[in-house]
Amino acid sequence: MATFTIAVAGKGGVGKTSFCSLLIRWLIENKRTPILAVDADPNSNLSEALGVGEIEETISEIISLTKEIDGIPVSMSQDEFISYKLSSALTETKNFDLLAMGGPQGPGCYCFPNNVLKKHLTKLEKNYQTVVMDNEAGMEHISRGTTTEHLDALFILSDTSRRSVRSAARIKVLTKDLGVPVKNIYFVLTRAQEGDIETLGDELKLVGLPLAGVVPNDETITKYELAGRALYELPSDAPSVVATTKILNETLGGN
Ligand SMILES: Nc1ncnc2c1ncn2[C@@H]1O[C@H](COP(=O)(O)OP(=O)(O)OP(=O)(O)O)[C@@H](O)[C@H]1O
Ligand SMILES: [Mg+2]
Repeated sequence: MATFTIAVAGKGGVGKTSFCSLLIRWLIENKRTPILAVDADPNSNLSEALGVGEIEETISEIISLTKEIDGIPVSMSQDEFISYKLSSALTETKNFDLLAMGGPQGPGCYCFPNNVLKKHLTKLEKNYQTVVMDNEAGMEHISRGTTTEHLDALFILSDTSRRSVRSAARIKVLTKDLGVPVKNIYFVLTRAQEGDIETLGDELKLVGLPLAGVVPNDETITKYELAGRALYELPSDAPSVVATTKILNETLGGN
């Protein structure tokens, strides 16, 4: 079966990582496993939201090694090295594996290692039923092409600030301009309080996408964050979990 790829994008702090952790939970509950979770945010924290320990090595660190004089064992080609390192960079759990892209790399040309990486990532993704990408604010990883070439579903998230709604509109345009083939784009409003949708009014229409759903501002999330608990383990009756489940049933349920 072909791998189903999902990306989550939106301005900084709108709730992408939180949404991703609930999305992964939904995918597990709906038996869309095995899952590859890709943390494409340099300030990675998907591992925390998922309750997985520290990430040992990021993709950026591996790519940097290929640039160092003694970075690659003499017995290995760059290709073999990236392939070998990629599998050791996977944090494996029962239902999902996690891969962190890591921060920006130092100066120099990375076209070659990036292309090699892309080839291996494409191969790796085939081992999974679902790939979930938690993106940094903006679409850099997609534009650089270091991750998936096509998306089955793109969730563009926005909180109820006008700036973040405009940013969602820009991401939608950018996706089209970059020519990223996306089957379905869903617009989700996060951290909403009563009356927010009415207040935003026509601003929401500027995004040019129907609202796929609303995740309410949920105190349970705040409490879990404060206590350092994984959002992945939120109670199933928490308002954010109920809302996310509804959104995912309606958008991905039939896929
Ligand atoms: N539905 C919600 N209700 C209340 N708080 C929320 C909700 N969703 C996210 N948050 C809180 O908002 C903050 C940002 O959330 P999160 O890290 O998921 O956003 P992000 O878009 O991934 O941010 P970044 O762009 O920095 O990666 C966190 O402190 C999180 O606990
Ligand atoms: Mg995040």
